[in-house]
Amino acid sequence: MATILMTGAAGAIGQMLRPRLAHHDLRLTDVRAGDGVDALDVTDAAAVEKACTGADAILHLGGIAGEGPFEDVLAVNVRGTERVLSAAVRTGVPRVVLASSNHAAGLHSRADAGPTGLADDVPARPDSYYGWSKAAMEQLGRLYHDRHGLHVICLRIGTCCEHPAAPRDLSTWLSPDDAALLFEAALTATGWRLIWGVSANTRRWWSTTGGLSIGYYPRDDAEPWSRRVGEPDLTSPTDSLVGGPMPTKPLGTP
Ligand SMILES: NC(=O)c1ccc[n+]([C@@H]2O[C@H](COP(=O)([O-])OP(=O)(O)OC[C@H]3O[C@@H](n4cnc5c(N)ncnc54)[C@H](O)[C@@H]3O)[C@@H](O)[C@H]2O)c1
Repeated sequence: MATILMTGAAGAIGQMLRPRLAHHDLRLTDVRAGDGVDALDVTDAAAVEKACTGADAILHLGGIAGEGPFEDVLAVNVRGTERVLSAAVRTGVPRVVLASSNHAAGLHSRADAGPTGLADDVPARPDSYYGWSKAAMEQLGRLYHDRHGLHVICLRIGTCCEHPAAPRDLSTWLSPDDAALLFEAALTATGWRLIWGVSANTRRWWSTTGGLSIGYYPRDDAEPWSRRVGEPDLTSPTDSLVGGPMPTKPLGTP
C-alpha cells in the first residue's frame, strides 16, 4: 500500500481507477472538488507542493484531455505538469506517472509499425496542440529524470472507456480493469519510460514490449465488440494513423 496523490481524480479515468486502486491510500484531487475529491489546480505551484508532501507517488491525470486553444493546453497541461514534477522533487516524492496520450505520436501510421508493432518509444509526432502538450509533458518528465533521478513513467494511453464505441477502438481500447493494471504496474516501475496504454486487443498494432517490461499484463480484448462497432477502413486516416480522427480536425478547436 502506498500513499498516492491523484490529480484529475474527478475525471473519467480517475473515476475508473479510484475503486480499483482503493487498496492504496489515495489522495484524490481535481480542479473540480466534491464527492471525496479535494480542490487542487495543478497550475498552482504552492498548492501542488502542499498536496505532494508525504506521498509515495503521483498519478498525474489532471488537465485538458482533448484538443484546445494553444494557450490553454500550454498553461494547464505543460505548466501544470512542470508544477507536479518540480513539487515531487522538492518534497521527495520518488515517482510520477504521467497520463500521456497516443496523440503525442498521433501522426505515425500503421506503415511505421515493425513486426512487433509500433515501438513504445517511437519519437513524438503530435497530431494537435493537445498531442504536442503531451509530447512536451513526456520530455519534461525526461528532464526531471535526468536531472533529479525522479522516476517518470509516461503512459501513451489509447482509448480508455467502458467499452469500444468505434471501429478504431478495436485496436486502441484500454479497458478500465486493464487501466488499473497498467497504472499499478507503473507505480513500481523505474527510470523514464514511454509505454503504450492499450488492452490485449486482437487488432492491437502498438507494441506490447514496454508494458511487459514493467509487469503490465492486460487481459481484455475489444474483439467481442467488433460486430457492434463495425469494421475499420484501413485506407482512411482515422483507422490508419495512431491519432485516429484527431489529425483531420482543425488545430486548437475543442
Ligand atoms: N480517456 C482517454 O482515452 C485518454 C486517452 C489518452 C490520454 N488521456 C489522458 O488521461 C488523463 C485523464 O483523462 P480523462 O479521460 O479522465 O479526462 P477527463 O477530462 O475526464 O478528466 C480530466 C480531469 O482533469 C481535471 N482538470 C482540468 N484542469 C485541471 C487543473 N488545472 N488542475 C487539476 N485538474 C484539472 C478535470 O476537471 C477533469 O476532472 C488526461 O490527462 C488525458 O489527457 C486520456
